[in-house]
Amino acid sequence: MKWMYLAATAAVGLACAFTTHSNTPTPPKRTGHQPKQSSQGELVKRGQYLVTIMGCADCHAPKKMTPKGPAPDMDRFLSGYNSDIPLGTYDKDLVKTGQWVLFNGQNTAFIGPWGVSFAANLTPDETGIGNWSLEQFNKAMRQGKFRGVDNSRPLLPPMPWPNYTAMTDADMRAVFTYLKSLKPVSNPVPAAIPPAP
Ligand code: HEC
Repeated sequence: MKWMYLAATAAVGLACAFTTHSNTPTPPKRTGHQPKQSSQGELVKRGQYLVTIMGCADCHAPKKMTPKGPAPDMDRFLSGYNSDIPLGTYDKDLVKTGQWVLFNGQNTAFIGPWGVSFAANLTPDETGIGNWSLEQFNKAMRQGKFRGVDNSRPLLPPMPWPNYTAMTDADMRAVFTYLKSLKPVSNPVPAAIPPAP
């Protein structure tokens, strides 16, 4: 009798040992409360909000002079450095000292130890991000890759892309969707100029 009892206890113990790992909690039943897919309108609204508070227009919008100072030119909103306007002259010797960086009056061209960089056209024209995929935009914003493609040059200052690496995927999509909803502006921004020797 005693043997039978021992054998039975051992069997129960073994059975438990073998079943514990299958006791992991089963995922809760789907209740139909899935995260809601944002509509196009909601994405555009969220994107507009983000682009505003993140200050993209400070650099990417050409400016119009107003009595209160320069303000974004809404006819060319976010279309980057206006390629119709010559860069203008500047003191190259001052730049060479490395003690100063220069921003043009429109805040769309930037001169420093990196040479001259021009704020990109972010409107959905073919001279802007018209042909870009979300993947490309993501690569430019998170990895600082020019045109958002592998093996391209790193984005130059003062594009603050390292600040944007922690953005959520949902916010990145919203910003991209908003930019794609803008009025396309044809404006081929000049290529960056390398530093003077
Ligand atoms: C302080 C100025 C500044 C701010 C603010 C800024 N940018 Fe830029 N951005 C630049 C400059 C300058 C370039 C061009 C850099 C280069 O040629 O390497 C650039 C380049 C880019 C590019 C790459 C374009 C290309 O053709 O590869 C994207 C995309 C971009 N910016 C999006 C944004 C967005 C979206 C915001 C706001 C969330 C923003 N930028 C805020 C200055 C700025």
